[in-house]
Amino acid sequence: MNAALLILGCGGHGRVVADTAVEAGYKKVAFLDDNPPREERRLAFPVLGALSLLPGLAGEWPCAIAALGDGARRLALFEQLRQSRFSTPTLIHPSAIISRGATIGEGVFVAAGAIINSGARIAEAAIINTGARIDHDCDIGTATHIAPGATLSGRVTVGAGSWIGTGASVRQNIRIGDGVTIGVGAAVVSDLLEAGTYAGVPARRLPRRQEVGFA
Ligand SMILES: CC(C)(COP(=O)(O)OP(=O)(O)OC[C@H]1O[C@@H](n2cnc3c(N)ncnc32)[C@H](O)[C@@H]1OP(=O)(O)O)[C@@H](O)C(=O)NCCC(=O)NCCS
Repeated sequence: MNAALLILGCGGHGRVVADTAVEAGYKKVAFLDDNPPREERRLAFPVLGALSLLPGLAGEWPCAIAALGDGARRLALFEQLRQSRFSTPTLIHPSAIISRGATIGEGVFVAAGAIINSGARIAEAAIINTGARIDHDCDIGTATHIAPGATLSGRVTVGAGSWIGTGASVRQNIRIGDGVTIGVGAAVVSDLLEAGTYAGVPARRLPRRQEVGFA
């Protein structure tokens, strides 16, 4: 493993990614961020500057990961990394349990305590957050975020740019489309293919909401 990891974004998610990088064995970690917090003491790692510095850093920092919570912006940065000279590793916390039969894409972040079972496929730039459970044969789309403690039963598919909220549960064989946001604690028991925000038990569409993901 290359010993240095550059993290794009030093918000809450970026800081979780930084801690994970250290646990995963990276020896040198730093952030790029356009708006770092004034309260630098919260950050255990240096902020090298704005994201515009990226092109000049590939020599010293050949590995970088996009760590913005916003799926569309994370995907845009991921694509920028891929088109330039950076490698965009998959970052997996050592306490996560990943089946040998699972496929994890480039730039994916898997947080502490997550479980990904056999036959699951996680597409590039996705986030499998703290303690999330992805059961057998699930398919998670590009830049989708499975939030902390969410549980996907077997053979669930989730499209690109979607967001499964904290603690939500999804019944087996369910299909969730692109740009779908599922609220915290929801129970998804039917297919939700149309982009939009859904919440509750069972999950129902919320009208005219600001979407978290992208379609
Ligand atoms: C579903 C969600 C996106 C809606 O956010 P929002 O568009 O700002 O909606 P509001 O908070 O204005 O709530 C709108 C209505 O939906 C209800 N609602 C919101 N979230 C809900 C949820 N998870 N379950 C049930 N009802 C919910 C509210 O009570 C409110 O009802 P009312 O109009 O009768 O008062 C948001 O509540 C949510 O759950 N986001 C996921 C957060 C998450 O997973 N974070 C992880 C970070 S790592």
